[in-house]
Amino acid sequence: MLAMNYRGPFRVRVDHKPYPEIQHPNDAIVRVTRSCICGSDLHLYHGLVPDTRVGMTFGHEFIGIVEEIGPSVQNLKVGDHVLVPFNIACGTCSFCKQGLYGNCHESNPEATAVGGIFGYSHTAGGYDGGQAEYVRVPYADVGPMVIPADMHPDDAVLLTDVVPTGYQAAEMGGIKPGDTVVVFGAGPVGIMAAKCAWLFGAGRVIVIDHLEYRLDFVRTYAQCEAYNFRSMQDPVLFLKKATDFYGADVCIDAVGGDAAGSALQTITGRKMMLQAGSATALHWAINSVKKGGIVSIVGVYGPTDNLIPIGNVVNKGITIRANQASVKRLLPRLIEHVQAGRIDPKGIITHRVPLEEVSDAYHIFSAKLDNCIKPILIPPSARV
Ligand SMILES: NC(=O)c1ccc[n+]([C@@H]2O[C@H](COP(=O)([O-])OP(=O)(O)OC[C@H]3O[C@@H](n4cnc5c(N)ncnc54)[C@H](O)[C@@H]3O)[C@@H](O)[C@H]2O)c1
Ligand SMILES: [Zn+2]
Ligand SMILES: [Zn+2]
Repeated sequence: MLAMNYRGPFRVRVDHKPYPEIQHPNDAIVRVTRSCICGSDLHLYHGLVPDTRVGMTFGHEFIGIVEEIGPSVQNLKVGDHVLVPFNIACGTCSFCKQGLYGNCHESNPEATAVGGIFGYSHTAGGYDGGQAEYVRVPYADVGPMVIPADMHPDDAVLLTDVVPTGYQAAEMGGIKPGDTVVVFGAGPVGIMAAKCAWLFGAGRVIVIDHLEYRLDFVRTYAQCEAYNFRSMQDPVLFLKKATDFYGADVCIDAVGGDAAGSALQTITGRKMMLQAGSATALHWAINSVKKGGIVSIVGVYGPTDNLIPIGNVVNKGITIRANQASVKRLLPRLIEHVQAGRIDPKGIITHRVPLEEVSDAYHIFSAKLDNCIKPILIPPSARV
């Protein structure tokens, strides 16, 4: 089958790989009909995630048709069109039982922090992902959900990660009616976080990025204010001034370890790898939230240390909330929001690329070319 194949930093290509096989009675094999490239894949692509092995297939955002099921699978049948959460979760450990599906204790033998994630290096379990024609889906009775009949597949594929992550970013912010919410990052996740902040009752939503085309997009898509940090001397001072010198009630980091904007952070975090990515946006979030405010982090950092102003966290009494999104927990509510027209996930898709051209798609999305917001990959069988 055709599958994306990681060859090393900034080098991916499409190759022929063996078809995946059922390895456990609760596995399913899914024929992919859509997959996406995510900002999280860029951390892998840029070589920032430890133990990303050559030969791996990325892709944690995908939907597809169930082709084969293991003998113990009860909730799916062959032919179902399913959306598959990016978290691989057992459904029965104490963390899954609390709804912490991103922190499953069973699905990732390599770590006890994050659970398994499709196509996300051996630090997240070493599972091959869905940027391929077929993918093996473990714990098939737990994660996959049959796509509602009235839902467009392009909406469904964005419910596997981007929509739940943006929504959870807003949820973890504990937004109260009238709050001022600042979102760092106008990528797919930040755009969705800004959109969802209104659903929690925000009174003002401000997005910060340095890509004008994304700022233009988010202003329209999420009806918010949006500013370019390159046009400010100091983004923290700018945000203080914009909030009567109090600071925002809630700051959301939707950037993670690939952040730009600080030479010190970039050199130590992305070039020399002395820290787990560049923590520029998180630094700004901590310093521009008000005393007693909440910083919600969904931007991804590596599993070691980062330079952040922890003294300010203590002295300002800030609450930090963070996690990988718990997709399965959020799906029922988000499907309602999509069906009611309150969120239009497919509205952020800008590029539809044949799977065979995966390497171009990575380059365009990584270099932010051609006004790219969200690229989706379509395998040959889904194009006929
Ligand atoms: N926690 C989760 O469950 C989860 C799920 C999906 C994605 N993520 C993470 O969310 C982050 C965003 O994902 P995405 O798909 O939107 O990625 P993306 O790369 O498309 O977007 C990131 C945006 O941040 C901007 N940016 C860079 N430096 C900045 C700074 N200092 N301040 C403000 N903006 C800055 C970039 O210009 C870009 O537009 C990534 O770190 C990704 O790994 C987390
Ligand atoms: Zn993702
Ligand atoms: Zn579990």
